[in-house]
Amino acid sequence: MTFIKWSYFDHQSSNWSDVIRKNTKMIYMETPSNPTLRITDIRSVATIAKRNDIITVCDNTFMTPYYQNPLDLGVDIVIHSGTKFLNGHSDVVAGSVITNSPILHQKIVNQRTLLGGILGVEDAWLLMRGIKTLGIRMERSEHNTLLIVSFLNRSNKVKKVYHPSLNSHKGRKIHIKQARGFGSVLSFELENVDAVESFLSKVTIRLVGVSLGGVETILSYPWIMSHAGLSEEERLARGVTPELIRFSGGIEDVADLIMDMEQALQ
Ligand SMILES: Cc1ncc(COP(=O)(O)O)c(C=O)c1O
Repeated sequence: MTFIKWSYFDHQSSNWSDVIRKNTKMIYMETPSNPTLRITDIRSVATIAKRNDIITVCDNTFMTPYYQNPLDLGVDIVIHSGTKFLNGHSDVVAGSVITNSPILHQKIVNQRTLLGGILGVEDAWLLMRGIKTLGIRMERSEHNTLLIVSFLNRSNKVKKVYHPSLNSHKGRKIHIKQARGFGSVLSFELENVDAVESFLSKVTIRLVGVSLGGVETILSYPWIMSHAGLSEEERLARGVTPELIRFSGGIEDVADLIMDMEQALQ
C-alpha cells in the first residue's frame, strides 16, 4: 500500500526550504483558488519545482484555457473540472487532465485504462457543444461579474469582496502577469451569519448549490457546502468563514442580477 503525505502551503508566505522535503514528488496549485481567490505565481512555482525535480499540477478550472495557460508557464499537468466553465450548462460531470510531457501522458493514459474513467457519449457530446461557446460565455460572465464586484464593493452591507480585479487584491499584479482575464468567480463576506441566511433566503437567483461556471449565476455557501469536509480551524485558517458567500457569475442581464442582490441585501 502506498501512503501519500501532503502539506498545505501558501507560496507567498511560505519558506521553500520548509515546503520541499526529500520525498516531495508533486506540487499541486489552484489559482485563483477556491473560494477566496488567492493567487499563486505559476511560473515561479514551476521553476522552483523543476530545479528540485518535482512535478507541478495546476487546477485551471476558474480561468479555463481561454484566460490562462499554465503549460506555457512551465507547469507539467493542467486539470480542469469540465463540469464547470468548459461545459458551461451545469448538466455534465466531466474533467480533463492535460500534459505536454509524453512520459506523463503515457502514465496518465495507463491509469485511465486501468481505472476506466472515461466519459459517456452523451456527456462527451454535451461537453463538445458547450465548449464551442466558451469564449463568449467567459467574456459575458466576466463582464457581469466586474459590475457585481463594483456593486458589492460599494454596498455598506458587504464587509469584504474577494476578486483579483480589485486593486486591493493581494495577488492582482501576479494574476495580471499570468492570465488574460479575471474570471467570473468572486466571494464576499457579510456582517454575520444571520445576514447570510437572510440574503440566501431572499435572493431570487434560482441556483444555490456547490457548482459554478454555468450560464446561470450560482451562489454557494462554502462553510457548509464545498468546504464542509475541513475542520472548523482549517476552514478559518483558509479564510472560509461562516460569513463568506461564493458567487459564480452567469450570462443573465446584469441589471436584473444587481437589482436582485440589492433587494436581498436590503
Ligand atoms: C476549482 C475546482 N476544481 C475541481 C473541482 C471538482 O470538479 P468536479 O465536480 O467536476 O469533480 C471543483 C468543484 O467544485 C472546483 O471548484
